[in-house]
Amino acid sequence: MPTSLASQPNANEAFWVEARSTYDSLDWQRRFTKQVFNFIRQQAAWLALTSPPTTDVRLLDYACGPGIVSLSMLPYVTSTLGMDVNPHQVSEYNRRASGANLPTTLCHATTGDLITTPVDPALSTAEFTSFDYAVCSAALHHMDDPAAAVARLADRVKVGGKVVIIEFLAKDEDVPAGEEERRRMNEEYRLRSHDNTHLVAGPMPPSQHGLKHGHGHGHEHSHEHSHEHSHEQGHGHEHGEGEGRHRHGPHGFKLEEMRGFFAAAGLVDVKSVIAPEKIVIEGFGEWDSFMMQGTKA
Ligand SMILES: C[S@@+](CC[C@H](N)C(=O)[O-])C[C@H]1O[C@@H](n2cnc3c(N)ncnc32)[C@H](O)[C@@H]1O
Repeated sequence: MPTSLASQPNANEAFWVEARSTYDSLDWQRRFTKQVFNFIRQQAAWLALTSPPTTDVRLLDYACGPGIVSLSMLPYVTSTLGMDVNPHQVSEYNRRASGANLPTTLCHATTGDLITTPVDPALSTAEFTSFDYAVCSAALHHMDDPAAAVARLADRVKVGGKVVIIEFLAKDEDVPAGEEERRRMNEEYRLRSHDNTHLVAGPMPPSQHGLKHGHGHGHEHSHEHSHEHSHEQGHGHEHGEGEGRHRHGPHGFKLEEMRGFFAAAGLVDVKSVIAPEKIVIEGFGEWDSFMMQGTKA
């Protein structure tokens, strides 16, 4: 029987659960990461995860930050690789993984970007390919071309493997960011994602956005389709200047838009589920979030 990471001798998940860094030191951030953790655990069967795993299950936790996705999936996987463009996030991930007594051969993170063109050839070896799951939580909205990012993640899973995206649901009246502005904000975010400075600013302008998406909480949506889509569509954001500082909040996606990304990446059996609880991002209000999965044909 394969050994899950959670069952590794001396594994101490509690260390990782309790660890703090500048990324998740604030109360609302702890609530947010706990919600992501709970969402994945609640959806384990939906994701076809079993504990203990019955075969080897390799996870790519892409844009891992300090590793909440990896932590939540420890009982279901036999190995996990975190990857993040920000080296501070990577060292925090590795601090937590080694503090939890997980063997580095089975659980560690590395600095890298699978989304840029061209991709670093060093990331083409077996260590970085043929995953059973490529999961990306709360990060796709920071990528300049999210459709291409989904396709790049699909490249990294084996046939029958799954790409899983956890993201915020777009609010209907969000105003799309201009291409150039989005690139600038993303670049800044990639450099500063290990601290909270990108979120520190004056009060948010009163939001006029409603949450008028047409899906109730907890519903599952299961359909495949392919359609023309624009990367800009439904990709709103909120930002402003406070005390001379740039504010960078989440951009949401519409489910249809995300399904288009999955279909274009050749993923099938695409389905999504909306998280039971809204996520509160301090200064940026309440957000619904969703998880979408697709399987590589
Ligand atoms: C909000 S954090 C999410 C971290 C974690 N996945 C979670 O759910 O808590 C977004 C992360 O995406 C990373 N990131 C942004 N763009 C990236 C890219 N192109 N490639 C890899 N990581 C990226 C940032 O460095 C940051 O750690």
